This record gives sequence, structure tokens and C-alpha cells, in this order.
Amino acid sequence: MKTALAFFALSASMAAAQTFPDDLVERGRYVATASDCVACHTGPEDKPFGGNHRIASPVGDIWAGNITPSTTHGIGNYTEQQFADAVRRGIRADGANLYPAMPYTAFAKITDEDIHALYAYFMQGVAPIDEPSQQTTLEFPFNLRFSMIGWNLMFRDTAVHRDDPAKSAEWNRGAYLAEGPGHCSTCHTPRGMLMQEDGSLHLAGAQVGPWFAPNITSDKDAGIGSWQKDEIVAYLATGRAEGKSQAGGSMAEAVSHSFSKLTKDDLGAIATYIMDVPAIGGPARFGQGEAGNLTASFRGIESPDLSDPGKGAQIYSANCASCHGYDGQGTQDQYYPSLFHNSDTSGAGVNNFVAAVLNGVDRKTEEGHVFMPPFGTQPNAFNSLDDGQIALLANYAVAQFGDGQMTVAAEDVAMIRAGGPTSNMVRNVRILMAAAGVLVLIGTVVFLRRRKTA
Ligand code: HEC
Ligand code: HEC
Ligand code: HEC
Repeated sequence: MKTALAFFALSASMAAAQTFPDDLVERGRYVATASDCVACHTGPEDKPFGGNHRIASPVGDIWAGNITPSTTHGIGNYTEQQFADAVRRGIRADGANLYPAMPYTAFAKITDEDIHALYAYFMQGVAPIDEPSQQTTLEFPFNLRFSMIGWNLMFRDTAVHRDDPAKSAEWNRGAYLAEGPGHCSTCHTPRGMLMQEDGSLHLAGAQVGPWFAPNITSDKDAGIGSWQKDEIVAYLATGRAEGKSQAGGSMAEAVSHSFSKLTKDDLGAIATYIMDVPAIGGPARFGQGEAGNLTASFRGIESPDLSDPGKGAQIYSANCASCHGYDGQGTQDQYYPSLFHNSDTSGAGVNNFVAAVLNGVDRKTEEGHVFMPPFGTQPNAFNSLDDGQIALLANYAVAQFGDGQMTVAAEDVAMIRAGGPTSNMVRNVRILMAAAGVLVLIGTVVFLRRRKTA
């Protein structure tokens, strides 16, 4: 025991005493930016990497902790191997399993060199914060961290990225950044019954909380196959692809903290790779709609469920027209974007229309601050809209500016206001556990009977 303690103290002090060259630390900073570690590990107090960041999951709140080099409350005592295991395998220094809310499933692809650089950065380039972070406490059976061992056996792929010799260097760099550090698939790929990514629908679109991370495969209609390479680069760098789409919600955060800070070459590489992702079909989202004027809409548009488009038009003119224009064309410079030719006013994208109205848009890049006020967060504010009003507004917008393909009900708005659809995962796991229990019971009965007859 004593020797074990002495050994631990020694390795801890070794970890702290190590010094790394500045260029390695800088390289690590870039890998950390590409991986967006800061977005999840920084709480509302805005202390970088200090933890206290809550991630809502279907099984309860999971807290991302303090990963500063504090030896009392952070990861200052982590050796490089322990750090690598946490980031790429989801295993903490004390041997406990992490929940996949930490995207180790994607980070598994990060190369040894980049892990080494990341470690150098976290030990030497990040200021220690000696404050505790909130602890995760989930309900049974999810509080049993070892249950993740089974999940990992089924779903974790621990292979580090390898270049595909049949593809260009640029494509390979893009594949590495998108599938590894950039972890696009953790948001854009739909999940199966146990919340694992469904590999057969890679990047085909998934709901993440209130926002929908759309299909970004190369499909011309459902995906982004109609985008030019420079449009994808512009979207990642600034959060907007003119006449197509703007980044709100978690994509706005990813653009602000991470993608907008990558080199143009790296963004070009990501675009090259993303444009080559196999197409997966679905409803069209782009190019639909045209400028509309209110007079026509007051006369009525077919809207089977909510049959009062005039009201939607009024809500639009009172709350939205000042910025997005009376006929939805936006401003000349498109700082206020047009609402036609916009993926949010297609039936398939209208969830994000509702999410944008409820939560607004807030994005900071070198271009400046992009801001649309939220209309759903302060119930008594002058500009607050209730679920029914937002449903009327969304139906008006889809009918007037979009493809007219969908109607939104007040309940849909309530669901997005509450943070997105709830998952069946808790129920599924309970059913699986009950089924396993029944199997054990049947097995026991059969076994006892056999013994009786034997
Ligand atoms: C999408 C959100 C997210 C991102 C991005 C993310 N993390 Fe995490 N991380 C988490 C969560 C959540 C936990 C805690 C999981 C748990 O309690 O099981 C965690 C845990 C950890 C731990 C274990 C800390 C401990 O408790 O001892 C380390 C180390 C870590 N992350 C490092 C990183 C690094 C380095 C990066 C960037 C390369 C990163 N994380 C990016 C969400 C994230
Ligand atoms: C944290 C979750 C998250 C991550 C990580 C993420 N995205 Fe997104 N992405 C979203 C969401 C949500 C939207 C929808 C934003 C909106 O419309 O306001 C989106 C939108 C997009 C769009 C616009 C698509 C359209 O049709 O409107 C593109 C392109 C895109 N993401 C590419 C990427 C790439 C490439 C990566 C990885 C390098 C990535 N995203 C990583 C959540 C994410
Ligand atoms: C004060 C000006 C302002 C008002 C008022 C306003 N918006 Fe916006 N809206 C913006 C800005 C700025 C953006 C973000 C543009 C960008 O991302 O580049 C935006 C973006 C959007 C988007 C795209 C969001 C995304 O992430 O995909 C939709 C949809 C939208 N607004 C609808 C509305 C509706 C409906 C209303 C009325 C309830 C409204 N806006 C009111 C300024 C405004």
C-alpha cells in the first residue's frame, strides 16, 4: 500500500514537472479548438475548462467536469496514458467509465501525435482552476458506470484514423477532422435504441435537443449535395451560406468556438470530405419558396390544421418583418436572411424555424456578432409568443415562403420549448432488463424442473 502511494505521488509529481516545448503546446491548442473541448467543459461562469457544464441526456443530466491542470479539482494528476484513455476510450483516471456524452466514440480516431500535443496543452497551456465541478448523479441503473462496459463492447470502435491511400491528402485530412476531433456525427447521425449512432444512416440528420442537425450527406435534395465547396467553407467559417442556411443552436456554438477558428485549408479539407459522404435520401430542403406579400396571404392559404393564416401573417408582420422584410426577402446584405430559399421554411426543416423563434440566434465569429432575439424564453416580455402563436407563424412561413409541406401544431412547439423530444431509451432499457429478468426466471424454473425429474 505504502509503495503504491509513493509510486502514485511520484508519477503525479512527474506529470506536473514535465515541460513541453511551446510549439507542441500551440499545436495542442489547435487540436483542442478543432475538438471544441471548451464548449462542453465551460460552465455558465465562463471559466475556460472549469467544468460545471450541464448536458441534458435522455437518462438525466450529465455534468462535464473541470479539465484544467488543477491537481486538487482538475486533471493535473493525469498521466499522458490516463489522459489518452479518457479522451479516446472513455475511461477516467480512477478506472471508471465515462458516459458517451463525452464524445470519446469520435475522439477514438485522434492520432497519438495529436493526443500528445493535446496533453501538453492541457498541462501547460491551460490555467488551473482549483474549484470543484458539479458531480453527475443518475438514477438506477444508469448510475452504474460499469454498465458502459457492455455498451462499449457493442458500439465502441477504438481504431485510430488511418489514411485511405485511394483518396487525396486533402480528403484524408478532412475525414480525420470531421470524424475525429470535429465529431460531426455525434450530432448529425441518428441514434438507435440504446443511443448508439446508426452507422447505416451516417450524417443523415438527427434531433439534438431543441434543434435538428440536418442531413449533411451528398444527397442533392435532402442533404447538402447541391452546395458548392466554398459555400460549405463559408458556412463553417461564419455560420451562414447565403440563400441556403444559417447556423443556430449547437451549430452556432460549434462555429463560434471551433470551426471559425480553423485554417481555411482545414475547412476546405472538411468540405472536400463531407461532399463525398454517401448520399442518403429524404425530403428536399433547399431552393423552395419565393418572396411573398401579406395581402395575398390574408386572403387565405390552405392550411388544414390551423386554418387561420391571416393570424400567422399578422404575427409575422408584428414581430419579424422589421428584420426579415415584409415579404420575407431579408436585407440586401442578407445580415437579416431571407426566409425563402431557406432550409428552415421547408417542411423538413421547420423544427429549426420553431427553435430559432423560441431561442433566437447568437453567434460570434471574426465577422462580428450575429443576433436574433428569442421570442420564447421570457414569458412576460413584450415580444414573447406562446405555443399556439408560434405554430400559426410557422405554418404561415412554410406556406408563404417555403414548400407548404407541413403543418406545425401547438404541441410540436411545446415539445421543442421543453428542450426536444424525449427518448425511449429509459423505457427500452427497463424493458430489456425486465426481459433479461424473465429469461433468468424461466431458466431457473426449467433448471429446477429438470432436477426434479432427473
Ligand atoms: C460534447 C461535449 C464534450 C466535448 C466536446 C468534450 N467533452 Fe470531455 N467530457 C464531457 C462530459 C459530459 C464528461 C463527463 C462524463 C461522465 O461523467 O461520465 C467529460 C469528461 C472528460 C474527462 C474526464 C474528467 C474526469 O472526470 O476525470 C476528460 C479528461 C475530458 N472530458 C477531456 C476532454 C477533452 C480533452 C476534450 C477535447 C478533446 C473534451 N473532453 C471534449 C463532455 C465533452
Ligand atoms: C454539437 C452538435 C453539432 C456538431 C458537433 C456539428 N453540427 Fe452541424 N449542425 C448542428 C445543428 C443543430 C445544425 C442546424 C443549425 C440551424 O439550422 O440553425 C447544424 C447544421 C449544419 C449544416 C447546415 C445544414 C443545412 O442543411 O442547413 C452543415 C453544413 C453542418 N452542420 C456541418 C457540420 C460539420 C461538417 C460538422 C463537423 C465538422 C458539424 N456540422 C458538427 C449541430 C452540430
Ligand atoms: C432584430 C432582428 C430580428 C427579428 C425581429 C427577427 N429575426 Fe430572425 N434572424 C435575425 C438574425 C440576425 C438571424 C441570423 C442570421 C444568421 O444566422 O446569419 C435570424 C435568423 C432567423 C432564422 C434562421 C435561423 C437558423 O438558425 O437557421 C429564422 C427561421 C428566423 N430568423 C425567423 C424569424 C421569425 C419567424 C421572426 C419573428 C418571430 C424573426 N426571425 C425575428 C434577426 C431577426
